[in-house]
Amino acid sequence: MPATTLPRPDRFLLAGVMGWPVMHSRSPTLHNYWFAHYGLTGTYVPLAIAPDRLRAALRALPALGFSGCNLTIPHKQAALAIVDRLDPLAQRMGAVNCIAVASDGSLEGYNFDAFGFIESVREAQPGWRAGSGAAVLIGAGGAARAVLVGLLEQGAREIRLINRTRARATALAGATGGPVSVFAWEERNAALAGAATLVNATSLGMSGEPGLDISLEKLPQNALVCDIVYVPRETGLLKEARLRGNPTVNGLGMLLHQARPAFHAWFGVMPSVSPELRALVESTL
Ligand SMILES: NC(=O)c1ccc[n+]([C@@H]2O[C@H](COP(=O)([O-])OP(=O)(O)OC[C@H]3O[C@@H](n4cnc5c(N)ncnc54)[C@H](OP(=O)(O)O)[C@@H]3O)[C@@H](O)[C@H]2O)c1
Repeated sequence: MPATTLPRPDRFLLAGVMGWPVMHSRSPTLHNYWFAHYGLTGTYVPLAIAPDRLRAALRALPALGFSGCNLTIPHKQAALAIVDRLDPLAQRMGAVNCIAVASDGSLEGYNFDAFGFIESVREAQPGWRAGSGAAVLIGAGGAARAVLVGLLEQGAREIRLINRTRARATALAGATGGPVSVFAWEERNAALAGAATLVNATSLGMSGEPGLDISLEKLPQNALVCDIVYVPRETGLLKEARLRGNPTVNGLGMLLHQARPAFHAWFGVMPSVSPELRALVESTL
């Protein structure tokens, strides 16, 4: 995490999110709430940046007085080769979701998605420990990689990784290393036996997508069930888990919490996620 730099009241604080497209992003709602909440003068804007302009746009940040920006699809990987310094966690995640402009104008690349996932789980289940039992992780895309790195960083001792396209899971396990075993898609029901945590990190269950077809029969009733999907708030998986007594966490907390260290990196204030902010973002979904 970058060193704290106190905001200077003589400066209009600037940050934004670069994406293509970008107008769907909830990040402006979040960060502009925090500007107002903490009495800081500044703004956070959506920046529609085509892929071939990413380098020029990032290099323009210091000259424009931006403290940094977030990156969303399709820029998270391309930025790896553009930043001047890369945080080891961003390297492990193979993607950059936050850039901070250093005092000398150089660009530092971070990724706070793993932090966001872990914090969202801790917020909902303060007693949860990554190392307390096996975790089953479904998915092998960008979000799954962030969750996997988060679990590993928190000391997970056994992760069962399952993806429809098995080769992608094998490649992901190879890239991160650690105690990760790859299971076949057909083994997903059986792989739940004895697990302490289940995470859906696929897009299945999202509005407009089919649900995740899985039987929870073998999952212990005290296992934590997480879905990184946040539209709808309660996916079919979470509903089924809740009805059989499992504690559950949806994906909204991950979205909210990944923004906190970004705001801190830019403006020196570590903001908190209040019920009011949660309700505000939920009202935009
Ligand atoms: N809460 C948050 O803050 C947060 C952050 C990031 C993303 N997300 C959400 O996470 C989800 C995944 O995002 P991503 O960036 O990781 O996407 P991605 O890189 O495209 O990966 C998509 C994943 O879903 C799987 N999948 C898609 N359709 C499937 C199907 N019909 N059957 C089985 N598996 C299927 C893919 O499996 P294959 O490899 O076999 O295609 C892959 O594992 C999205 O819903 C996104 O909104 C949430």
